[in-house]
Amino acid sequence: MTISDADQAWLSAVVANHGRHATRLLQILRDVQDHFRHIPRPVMQLLAEQLGVPLAQVQGVTEFYSFLSTQPQGRYHLQLSDSISDHMLGSRALGTYLCDKLGVADGETRADGRVSFAYTSCSGLCDQGPAGLVNGWWLPKLDRSRIDRISALVEADVPLSQWPQDLFSARDNVRRPGLLLSNPVASGSALKWSLMRGLASTLDEVDKSGLRGRGGAGFQTSWKWRFCFEGPEETAVCPVEKGERMERYVVCNADEGEPGTFKDRVLLNSHAHQVFEGMTLCAGIVGAKQGFLYLRGEYLALRAKLEAVLAERRRLNLLGVGILGREGFDFDIEIHMGAGAYICGEESALIESLEGKRGTPRNRPPYPVTHGYLGRPTVVNNVETFVAAAAIALKGGVWFASHGTEKSKGSKILSICGDCARPGIYEYDFGVSIAQILKDCGAANTFGVQVGGPSGVFIGEQEFERRLGFEDLATGGSFMIFDKTRDVLEIVRNFTHFFAHESCGFCTPCRVGTSLLRNAMDKLCAGHGAAGDLVEIGNLGQFVRAASHCGLGQTAANPLLATLERFPELYQSRLKSISFEPGFDLDGELSTARRMTGRDDAHAHLEQESV
Ligand SMILES: Cc1cc2nc3c(=O)[nH]c(=O)nc-3n(C[C@H](O)[C@H](O)[C@H](O)COP(=O)(O)O)c2cc1C
Ligand code: SF4
Repeated sequence: MTISDADQAWLSAVVANHGRHATRLLQILRDVQDHFRHIPRPVMQLLAEQLGVPLAQVQGVTEFYSFLSTQPQGRYHLQLSDSISDHMLGSRALGTYLCDKLGVADGETRADGRVSFAYTSCSGLCDQGPAGLVNGWWLPKLDRSRIDRISALVEADVPLSQWPQDLFSARDNVRRPGLLLSNPVASGSALKWSLMRGLASTLDEVDKSGLRGRGGAGFQTSWKWRFCFEGPEETAVCPVEKGERMERYVVCNADEGEPGTFKDRVLLNSHAHQVFEGMTLCAGIVGAKQGFLYLRGEYLALRAKLEAVLAERRRLNLLGVGILGREGFDFDIEIHMGAGAYICGEESALIESLEGKRGTPRNRPPYPVTHGYLGRPTVVNNVETFVAAAAIALKGGVWFASHGTEKSKGSKILSICGDCARPGIYEYDFGVSIAQILKDCGAANTFGVQVGGPSGVFIGEQEFERRLGFEDLATGGSFMIFDKTRDVLEIVRNFTHFFAHESCGFCTPCRVGTSLLRNAMDKLCAGHGAAGDLVEIGNLGQFVRAASHCGLGQTAANPLLATLERFPELYQSRLKSISFEPGFDLDGELSTARRMTGRDDAHAHLEQESV
């Protein structure tokens, strides 16, 4: 393929728009993908030249992110979520229906180039599945009649801008507002109060509140902010700025890629001012001038609204130069879109991605608070953490700390999906029991709950009196419910597929281990498992957990190990009664040859030994 003069001019304008910064590579590639429906090789070459980066980097980034493709996608690129909650609502059957209807195969583009189809790990709409995307835009609540409408629009070549809006509209589904959702902070009020009180005192309030990060790891927020503020003064690693105070950065982690998690989607949709207020407070405290919102690629539908909120905040002097008239308080926020890589939620991978690279997790230490974006001190916090920080700045640390438990102050916003009458957003003070949550959301006949998404823990009925909190059941917010009609092995199999797909491939234990775990679960679910396999996968799971480089690999075996420990009988009931069956079915593979040679006598088959 050659690039026309018009396309070259378009590309140069895009690169110029992004300031010719190599850090913008991923954002530029997203624009290229939209324009050409793939990333053509000559464009990679031009980009490498214009940004002054090696061609290998452009290729490496292109291949890393699932939203970028080297092969042309259809003008309408349809995706269906492969999250377990969507499976439970019949997404696979719908996928087949859609493919038949449009004459397109899974993972392929139709010959006329109009439409392509693929499954994606999760679309962030687990409360309104089966859900999908068209060219990155949400398609909630899919059923056959919606697919008929979508197919007709595709076949009639109706531009997306003219599709009926009801096909795209996602709901917040806030079912139970609590401490934060019932006490929204008016734009600018927390900042004004903090400037009156003094930013150092605001940090003391965050300290008193006991707020811990809501993204999963639960690190004390005030410590993170203090470490960043106190971080390296001199620029030993940054010679250009020698002698000056090193730039600081504030990053809001809105990657929210854990299947079953969608509370950040709702916070960004309906409480964006408060998210940005929290980020601006943090910037004032640590002395940052630049912030980033790293927004997951599947949340494209939120982008324009978020840009509008940022523009309004600039107009209100809540962002920009001299915020609220305070000389030297300069801060602004840029939105950086992800491109379909769950690993980019891991904070160091996120920073790599912000720098325009593949999302490969860094070695830690050093941590981002001292060596983050461009090697400079950087605070990375979850969306909900910033929302809580803004509320604490206004209402005080004691107010927040008077809720929750000894080690888990305040509230937690949960994303609830799966087998319950009322999926959606629920906010509880920490310390609430699982039984209470199940009752509130209308769950019945519950077999188990996956708390914290696929990387969390699966608990059974006998544990429903356990409580949410860092001292017992910590969670980033995902709460997936499974009733007694569900097949636990199929659930675990879905999770192993997720991790094998999302492993970034950097370290061998995770790259190979997650694929082996996926293969083992496929074998078990297909009824070919043997007693030896259970021992093997138990050992393999422990190994992947212990030897992987980052949190993805370290948690990938959690659902498998948790269910194997709690429900060994479920696994045993699926075993074939032989001591070992190889993953490779030689007898089956030879069946074509047998058919061709007309042999089907006993000697043409491999014998299997019974235990
Ligand atoms: C594989 C992986 C994915 C993650 N995804 C997210 C995410 O989507 N959002 C998030 O806030 N934290 C995520 N985290 C945790 C972040 O690394 C980090 O701890 C968090 O953003 C810090 O913010 P907090 O202190 O406010 O929780 C993820 C971690 C791992 C290992
Ligand atoms: S553990 Fe997995 S995701 Fe993490 S660095 Fe290794 S391969 Fe990548």
